[in-house]
Amino acid sequence: MSKKKFGVPALAGLIVACCAVALVAQAEPSKAGKPADNSYCYVCHANFQAEELARNHQKHGVGCAKCHGESDRHSADEDGLTPPEIMFAKEKILDGCTKCHALTKLRAVDEHEAAFAKDPAKRKVCTDCHGKHRMAVRTRHWDKTTGKLIKAEGVRMMNKNSAATNAK
Ligand code: HEC
Ligand code: HEC
Ligand code: HEC
Ligand code: HEC
Repeated sequence: MSKKKFGVPALAGLIVACCAVALVAQAEPSKAGKPADNSYCYVCHANFQAEELARNHQKHGVGCAKCHGESDRHSADEDGLTPPEIMFAKEKILDGCTKCHALTKLRAVDEHEAAFAKDPAKRKVCTDCHGKHRMAVRTRHWDKTTGKLIKAEGVRMMNKNSAATNAK
């Protein structure tokens, strides 16, 4: 039943909403606040609890929602067909990070040569080096720009590495 509720027309509406959401809230790294509460996301994404990129930001007040949006509809969809509000295609990762980390400072770090390599074939994205922020198994594939569901494998509940089977 709930599959119908999040069917194609509803998803199309959500996509419009997604695009209107401001990418990432501005925040000065040096003015970080209290630790962020990610417990809502850990219900399914428990595997991100100890992950470096998420953890290092969480403790400085930058939670999952700062980068991926509040994503209430995604979190409430037990079928896992509704995408989170903000996803990052590879070519958008740098822009997402530089909302908070000044480009001039990043360029000044020697180890960042590969992040700014002229040759796109040699260029690395921030998450190639920082954290292990990728899942070993994906059962849902959305277009990261439009949020459109491209492919959903029905075996999700049976796959021990899948996000939704990590629920506590
Ligand atoms: C919403 C703002 C925000 C965004 C977006 C953001 N960061 Fe951060 N980042 C912070 C804050 C705040 C800190 C902690 C204070 C500091 O180290 O400057 C931090 C710290 C870091 C650190 C140092 C971690 C440590 O403790 O050693 C790295 C590395 C980092 N971020 C990488 C990234 C990458 C990669 C991205 C993009 C995927 C990113 N950040 C996006 C705010 C942000
Ligand atoms: C009810 C379970 C559930 C909750 C709660 C949940 N997610 Fe998810 N999430 C999933 C599933 C299932 C996938 C697809 C995983 C896969 O491909 O196997 C997913 C995938 C994602 C993705 C990957 C998108 C991409 O780039 O393809 C992001 C980002 C994400 N979730 C963020 C969040 C955030 C942020 C929260 C908390 C606000 C959250 N999720 C809460 C189930 C959940
Ligand atoms: C080739 C690997 C690599 C890539 C790609 C990379 N970094 Fe780093 N980054 C490092 C290393 C190594 C350091 C220095 C050691 C450390 O602090 O982890 C560093 C340091 C940092 C720091 C701390 C800088 C400081 O002033 O102390 C931040 C923030 C950061 N990186 C963010 C990013 C962002 C954002 C991107 C994408 C534009 C990125 N990094 C791409 C390897 C990388
Ligand atoms: C600092 C910004 C930032 C924070 C905080 C953050 N993410 Fe992400 N997330 C990203 C970026 C950038 C990507 C794309 C990474 C890539 O493709 O290499 C991503 C990708 C993902 C994916 C897709 C992984 C895959 O295999 O494609 C999931 C799932 C996810 N994030 C969940 C979360 C959850 C859950 C949290 C909180 C516990 C979180 N993220 C916190 C920036 C962030």
